[in-house]
Amino acid sequence: KTDYYTEPYRPQFHFSPEEMWMNDPNGLVYHKGVYHLFYQYYPDDIVWGPMHWGHAISTDLAHWKHKPIALYLDELGFIFSGSAVVDENNTSGFGSDGNPALGAIFTYHDMKGEEAGRDDFQTQGIAYSLDNGDTWTKFKGNPVLENEGIRDFRDPKVMRYEPLQSWVMTLVAGDHAKFYTSKNLKDWELTGEFGKDQGAHGGVWECPDLFQLQVEGTDEKKWVLLISINPGAPNGGSGTQYFIGDFDGKTFTSDQKENRWIDWGTDNYAGVTYNNAPNDERIFIGWMSNWAYARDTPTEKWRSAMTVPRKLSLRKIGDTYSLINYPVDGLENLREQGIRKTIRLEAGEKDSLAFDHFNRAEVQFTTAAKDFRLVFKNDKEQQLVLTLDSEKSVFYLDRTRSGKTDFQENFGDTVQEMPIDHLPQEAFEVRILLDYSSVEVFINKGQYVMTAQVFPNEHYILLDIENTSEAILEFNNFEINK
Ligand code: FRU
Repeated sequence: KTDYYTEPYRPQFHFSPEEMWMNDPNGLVYHKGVYHLFYQYYPDDIVWGPMHWGHAISTDLAHWKHKPIALYLDELGFIFSGSAVVDENNTSGFGSDGNPALGAIFTYHDMKGEEAGRDDFQTQGIAYSLDNGDTWTKFKGNPVLENEGIRDFRDPKVMRYEPLQSWVMTLVAGDHAKFYTSKNLKDWELTGEFGKDQGAHGGVWECPDLFQLQVEGTDEKKWVLLISINPGAPNGGSGTQYFIGDFDGKTFTSDQKENRWIDWGTDNYAGVTYNNAPNDERIFIGWMSNWAYARDTPTEKWRSAMTVPRKLSLRKIGDTYSLINYPVDGLENLREQGIRKTIRLEAGEKDSLAFDHFNRAEVQFTTAAKDFRLVFKNDKEQQLVLTLDSEKSVFYLDRTRSGKTDFQENFGDTVQEMPIDHLPQEAFEVRILLDYSSVEVFINKGQYVMTAQVFPNEHYILLDIENTSEAILEFNNFEINK
């Protein structure tokens, strides 16, 4: 632990930069036992500026070690979001058989081109590392993908597609995704497009990700396309939608009609998944902020944090496939046992649990109850309120009186809502990760998820559990861990 863990609002168990501005996670790749986390970084201020790739590493997705900046801007532009691959077979020639290169594929944002009124100022470039990500060399032939005049043309996510022995790149072009293939990471050919007439289009499409997942409890596999949009999210500002469908090596197709969201809270944006994670796992990290107010949040030396790493899966619920996201195993290693009890409440009754001196809290219980309220409070009469309402079939996250909210008009003006339409009759789990300046709610093991930032003037120290139904409710194995 370093001193900065005592700073106001500094997350205790979420990744945050030591100092200065951070946005999207980039280049998530697992290589030789190490999870790399690169991220959009501006080292000179706590607001967005000329972008670099910051870098951190972890062996357990719980503890992170800060590394020096990995990619600096150059004469082709700022380094915007992108991905990283392990070039196992040295298809690029950057590495050698004994030492495969790590490749980073990113967007060059040419500020001068933009200022000059051109439309082709975003192109795709590549860099490689022969020392496990410590130092990087830009490819001399950059850009590897030119722009034919599309203003928003960015955020390449590259994956290996074995059936064609090729690389596939998914990137976004304003209101749709484009797919390219390559044998060598340098020469790219356009093979397909998706999305002009599908999905949410309240804002520009950003940060795509394409991968295959197995449906829980079956051998069936489906493809998933993640697309972040800004603005146009269900509770305002930025958010991440997903599509479930098929991919044939050239293009993605989906017959999905409705818009679907990986997270209904305001603060999970630009999330993407790891390439090459062990055991075929799909591990997701999102940026825990929202462009509506990201530049205004009340921290002083640094800005923003990442979500906890979450494992993605597919579950068939009724006739539809749902994308599930739930914290990875191993985060329990960071917590200590706190309060444990079984709670039984008469109609209208409430229980209060004090958890002062916890610098974080993880609340977990199982219940069949469909009407209850959880109120996290501090000594300043500030509160964060979570309510499940079966009549409305909505879960509410109310941060309107959660602490500092007036730093930006959009932050505390509305109660966030998540439709809850398919909860099981029987008992299900509720798990809540509360850090100094964020809350993540996982209902029924990641079927319904909300993530939001909060800025209480002091830590919350009391939790009220209220029975808002006419029946007796039981909350089994109610835990608050510290
Ligand atoms: C998403 C985004 C990306 C872009 C990056 C720039 O938050 O706008 O589309 O590459 O941030 O920092």
